[in-house]
Amino acid sequence: MGSRTVCLMISCALLAWHMHTNYSAKFEQPWKTMIIHSFIKISLFMGTVAENLGLMSYWEFLNIIFKWQLLAPISDENITVTDTIVNDVIVHYFVPKKKSHELKRAIIYYHGGGVSFSSIAFLQYDTFARLAANRLDAVIVGPDFRKFPKYLHPTQWNDAYNFVKSFLQPENLAKYGVDPNRICFLGDSSGGGMAASMIQQVMSDPEITIKPKIQVLIYPGLQMLDTDLPSYRENEFGIMLPKAIAIKLMSEYHTPDESLEQAMKINQHIPVEYSHLFKFINWSILLPEKFKKGHVYNNRIYGSSEMVEKFPGIVDPKISPLLANDSILSLLPLTYILTCQHDVLRDDGLMYVSRLRSNGVQVFHEHIEKGFHGSLFSIHWPYNLDIGWKLIDNVLTWINENL
Ligand SMILES: *[C@@H]1O[C@H](CO)[C@@H](O)[C@H](O)[C@H]1NC(C)=O
Ligand SMILES: *[C@@H]1O[C@H](CO)[C@@H](O)[C@H](O)[C@H]1NC(C)=O
Ligand SMILES: *[C@@H]1O[C@H](CO)[C@@H](O)[C@H](O)[C@H]1NC(C)=O
Ligand SMILES: *[C@@H]1O[C@H](CO)[C@@H](O)[C@H](O)[C@H]1NC(C)=O
Repeated sequence: MGSRTVCLMISCALLAWHMHTNYSAKFEQPWKTMIIHSFIKISLFMGTVAENLGLMSYWEFLNIIFKWQLLAPISDENITVTDTIVNDVIVHYFVPKKKSHELKRAIIYYHGGGVSFSSIAFLQYDTFARLAANRLDAVIVGPDFRKFPKYLHPTQWNDAYNFVKSFLQPENLAKYGVDPNRICFLGDSSGGGMAASMIQQVMSDPEITIKPKIQVLIYPGLQMLDTDLPSYRENEFGIMLPKAIAIKLMSEYHTPDESLEQAMKINQHIPVEYSHLFKFINWSILLPEKFKKGHVYNNRIYGSSEMVEKFPGIVDPKISPLLANDSILSLLPLTYILTCQHDVLRDDGLMYVSRLRSNGVQVFHEHIEKGFHGSLFSIHWPYNLDIGWKLIDNVLTWINENL
């Protein structure tokens, strides 16, 4: 072996050790977390290469590498799983087989994955839904709303709302044996934002008489106006959801035109006519001290008016539920919010906790110091971590006690 090879091996070992020490302080199971991080980084990089070479879009690439996770609706000894099409949208139902005289609780599930490549039929959501249905003896139902890049905003939102309106009809609930007083809205990541938005709309819609009892938001994305929050600064290259991907997901939800993505990267996508909205997401007021430490609130640089004319969704509270005013927030039911320290979306969740509490909403807030975006669904190989099962157990226990 040449001396250069020995030097290279020692350098690699030192680098790995250095990275491992860095990871040990931040995460449980640091080696495995580091490997998952590298794996995801490589996938995202390959997606970028495929897109730049003109082979396929970024999302088509992700669709291909995640395709193996898609499951057909297969019932098991405890749960009947079915797909139903409601207003063009495939809806997955997980209904416990156990017969009882009592009505069942229900969870309406909005899946994450940035309303793009993901699906409620993904392995991890399927596992979660079966587990929840079994443990809570509840009906779990998840709409697989249409995705971008094929469909842009507001298709996703309208799909989700049309579904919820038809699901909450008394005769429909009776068909599935659901107790109208024990309904939960739940979502993770972009689905957390969708669940939050749905519930705001449902609570203030006089046409819908059946209202949910609780909402559960798992590291939700709740706004797209400020991409310079402390959590964005600290987790620019974070696990699972680096800042650049978060921005790509949020902008391409509205348009394939790169001008929005570029403006969001420098946080100059909102014109001055909408400056009044920033009071709803002012992190220097809404974040607890601990999360502001070491950060300076910069004066906003406003963008051109054209942005909102071209992409009105970027200032729509339906996309950014944090923009809802106090009178809407005060209508909301008991809430569970999970935030993770190492997550660009952390401060969205933290600010929502502050705003809900100051509007008299009861919030159970769980903050995971060693968590990262996607922690709760890190349950299957090659992404399986103990933290995933632990968080799922926490969430299901809370729902069981409060729904
Ligand atoms: C270690 O962590 C610090 C901050 O948490 C980061 O700036 C640095 O890049 C990390 N080093 C490595 C090798 O990952
Ligand atoms: C069905 O329920 C029983 C009792 O809760 C459990 O032991 C079993 O593992 C479940 N089966 C499946 C396929 O989840
Ligand atoms: C945000 O809050 C700070 C005070 O902490 C204030 O100086 C600033 O003007 C506020 N910005 C907006 C847009 O509300
Ligand atoms: C709050 O927002 C709702 C819906 O956007 C609107 O109808 C209502 O007038 C607003 N209330 C206040 C006090 O601004």
